[in-house]
Amino acid sequence: MTDTAAQPARTVLVLNGPNLGRLGKRQPEIYGRTTYADLVGLCEGWGSDLGLAVEVRQTNHEGVMVDWLNAAADDGTPVVLNAAAWTHYSYAVYDACAQLTAPLVEVHLSDPEARPETWRHSSVVTAHAVAVVKGKGVDGYREALEVVADGATG
Ligand code: DQA
Repeated sequence: MTDTAAQPARTVLVLNGPNLGRLGKRQPEIYGRTTYADLVGLCEGWGSDLGLAVEVRQTNHEGVMVDWLNAAADDGTPVVLNAAAWTHYSYAVYDACAQLTAPLVEVHLSDPEARPETWRHSSVVTAHAVAVVKGKGVDGYREALEVVADGATG
């Protein structure tokens, strides 16, 4: 008998750190005018085009982010992560990323390494990521989801 049942869409978490809920209002010359609500809709649409069930979240609370990453590790869920400022100094985020069991893609709207503040030039996430997408604005999230879709085995 041929199995014609469609595969359920693979769940992907798109996790955003501090201040990213203010997209559109926050330094638009750096981060653009797309709002966070727009970003959520765009990611969901790109995900559905790619056969992924995308869940987008944002928190300003580091412990909440660690809890989300720990749950993703336990569930084997791929993660697209913009850790925002935590990228540059949070060893709690480093340790949580180290435990992930499915692909992790790091994304940034700006290119932190091209910015003048030298503290932005290092990332605790990169060591654990299969890819880093930066400096491409909100379109970088689409590219990050494409990386997950390309690597997804179901
Ligand atoms: C950011 C870059 C970080 O340096 C900054 O702290 C952010 C946003 C980005 O998406 O460009 O909050 O991660």
